[in-house]
Amino acid sequence: MPVVIAVWLGDGILRTVARRNGGGARAMVVATFWPSLVRGARMIEIHDLTKRHGPRAVVDGLSFTVRPGRVTGFLGPNGAGKSTTMRMILGLDAPTSGTALVVGERYRDLRRPLRQVGALLDAGAVHPGRSARAHLAAIAAANRIPPSRIDEVLGLTGLGSTRGRVGAFSLGMKQRLGVAAALLGDPGILMLDEPVNGLDPEGIHWIRTLMRELAAEGRTVLVSSHLMSEMALTADHLVIIGKGRLIADTPTAAFLKNTSRTDILVRASRPQELRSLLMSHGAQVAVEADGALAVTGLEPHIVGDLAAAARIGVHELTVRSASLEEAFMAITGDAVDYRAGSIERTHQS
Ligand SMILES: Nc1ncnc2c1ncn2[C@@H]1O[C@H](COP(=O)(O)OP(=O)(O)OP(=O)(O)O)[C@@H](O)[C@H]1O
Ligand SMILES: [Mg+2]
Repeated sequence: MPVVIAVWLGDGILRTVARRNGGGARAMVVATFWPSLVRGARMIEIHDLTKRHGPRAVVDGLSFTVRPGRVTGFLGPNGAGKSTTMRMILGLDAPTSGTALVVGERYRDLRRPLRQVGALLDAGAVHPGRSARAHLAAIAAANRIPPSRIDEVLGLTGLGSTRGRVGAFSLGMKQRLGVAAALLGDPGILMLDEPVNGLDPEGIHWIRTLMRELAAEGRTVLVSSHLMSEMALTADHLVIIGKGRLIADTPTAAFLKNTSRTDILVRASRPQELRSLLMSHGAQVAVEADGALAVTGLEPHIVGDLAAAARIGVHELTVRSASLEEAFMAITGDAVDYRAGSIERTHQS
């Protein structure tokens, strides 16, 4: 009975077999009888996780759940504890207290870890003398992954024609190899620590598309990055930490809406007149240096209609939202460990 075999082979194969057998119904039946697929299915669950180095808690009572079907961005200033949290999820660091579960179990208790969780933590952690293929072949052999999967992931990550030793790879090529290794077991959960680091624009676009596709297939994707513009495009959900503590666990859209300023920039033929008019309808209106109006407290269509009714020409009407970067800086301001000084200040001291 193919479905039973699928259970033993792991999560990725399960989906393939379920697809071949006519859809999700059978997968549901299997999930019902397979506790680990039900308990925390494809989830990362962090409960009151703490990691101390000496007296200092670098991860401090952290709790959040990473769910399937969406890309979750894991954000925080340098030293916030993102990599440490990811290491604890993978059992590479032992928590001082609290738990980190994947698929409802501790990582070290997973029967087929690479088929359930694919991770890229440190792209440089590869044997420099091996080729990309040999590196992946060693991982595949140790995890009983069919060799045919090596060519698939090499192709998927654009390394298909790469020759030579990994030691000579550029940072971007090592990142791609790290992603290839993470995808090798076709896992239901992907965890990537700063995967776009060192990637060229094509690579950044590729990894964004890849993460979104993996999430759309129902996988769980947790990704850390400092590239806020990228995260705004990639992440559906954000977990933001600072100094080891949770600052926000929120859908990206809600975070941007609630944390950041939104106003309407209006350029008009008679700005002073429009300003008075809008203020008499309850708007707050600031005048920018170039004479444009920055309007809050009224919907854009009301602003346009009021101007039209007063026969004031509107030359521009733009809704302005703060970027994720601005919102991130605003919310993490107090949690920044390492803040750069300005050049003037450095020269003065
Ligand atoms: N083995 C260790 N011994 C002592 N302190 C450590 C150790 N590992 C990490 N830390 C400290 O824990 C804190 C969190 O580090 P971590 O690498 O998790 O941060 P991060 O959020 O990933 O930062 P970045 O954005 O710079 O990658 C840092 O202050 C770091 O110095
Ligand atoms: Mg880190």
